[in-house]
Amino acid sequence: MEFDKSYTYKNIDEAFRAKCVSFALYMLFGQKARQDDWHQLADIFAQSAKNELEHSRIFYNILYGEDSLSDTCENLARGVQMEKAARETYAKFSQIAKEESFFKISALLEEIQNIDAAHMKRFAVIRENMDKANTFCRDEKQKWICSRCGHEKTDFCSDAVCPVCGACQGYSRIKAENY
Ligand SMILES: [Fe+2]
Repeated sequence: MEFDKSYTYKNIDEAFRAKCVSFALYMLFGQKARQDDWHQLADIFAQSAKNELEHSRIFYNILYGEDSLSDTCENLARGVQMEKAARETYAKFSQIAKEESFFKISALLEEIQNIDAAHMKRFAVIRENMDKANTFCRDEKQKWICSRCGHEKTDFCSDAVCPVCGACQGYSRIKAENY
């Protein structure tokens, strides 16, 4: 029997989605427990969320293959598509909420659409930077910062290896201040 036409496929897909929901809820439950000073319980929720995330990885791999998460460029492209799809869905949901006179919910859905648009743009730009190999090199000099130790340098490219802490180039980013 073909796996993707089987009940088992549907069940694993359902289990994957349920694990994602459990992960999010346990994170939220943990935050609330911490606010209430239930710190051991907060840690237990956080640990449980971590377990749920791992279970979601297992189910995801069954559904899409063991190496389905191995390509970060592809994951970014997937992120763009997911945000695009979410925007379209929320546009419909917002319209329905308006028709049903849930104006506050309708407005919230519109705002979340805008956030998703920003996510979509961010993923797309990062992907483009990767494709053009200019994540760590730009045409104009930039102020680069090592996000591990804070070392800064102004140049076209960031250091391949941080001269202070030895972090790889993946830790470097263009410095941005917003305080
Ligand atoms: Fe560093």
